[in-house]
Amino acid sequence: MCCTTIPKKQALAIIKRYEQVKAIIAKYDKSREQLLAILLDIQASSGKNYVAEEWAEVVADELELPVSKVHDVLTFYAMFHIKPQGRYIIEICKSTPCQVTKADEVVALFEKELGIKLGETTPDKLFTLLHTSCVGACDIGPVAKIGEIVYGNLTAVKIAEIVLSYREVS
Ligand code: FES
Repeated sequence: MCCTTIPKKQALAIIKRYEQVKAIIAKYDKSREQLLAILLDIQASSGKNYVAEEWAEVVADELELPVSKVHDVLTFYAMFHIKPQGRYIIEICKSTPCQVTKADEVVALFEKELGIKLGETTPDKLFTLLHTSCVGACDIGPVAKIGEIVYGNLTAVKIAEIVLSYREVS
C-alpha cells in the first residue's frame, strides 16, 4: 500500500487550522520580532493550550527562521507548552511569599476539587494544574492564575466556586 488516507473531516480540520495559523502570522506581518506574540496567539487559539510541532514548523517557514530557533523559544519560556493541555491552565504561584501564605494547601485543594495531581490534566481535558512563579500579586496570596485572571486570598470555598464557574461556561 502506497498511501495513508485520513478522514475528510480530519483533513478539513487540518486545513482550517493551517489557514488560522497563517492568518495569525500574517496579522504580525511575518515579523521575526513578533515571534513570541505569534506563538502565544497560536497556543491560545489551539483549544488545548499548546503549540503543535507542525505549526512550529509553519512559523519557522513563514518567518524564514530555523525550526530549532522556534523550538528554543517554545522550550525556554515556561508560558509555552508543546504537548496538549487542558482548556484552562490553573497556575498556582509557588514563589516564597505565596508559599508563606500556604500555596501548598491551595495545590492540595485544587487537586481534591479536580481529582488530579499537580502537572496532570482532567480526563475531560478541561483543566491542567501547574505551578508558576510570582505573578505580581503577592499581597493577595496564595494566588492562582487562569489565563489572564489572577485569583487571590484563596480558600476551599473560593476554589470550589472558581472551578464551578469554569465548568459552567464550558
Ligand atoms: S509570590 Fe505569589 S504572586 Fe508573588
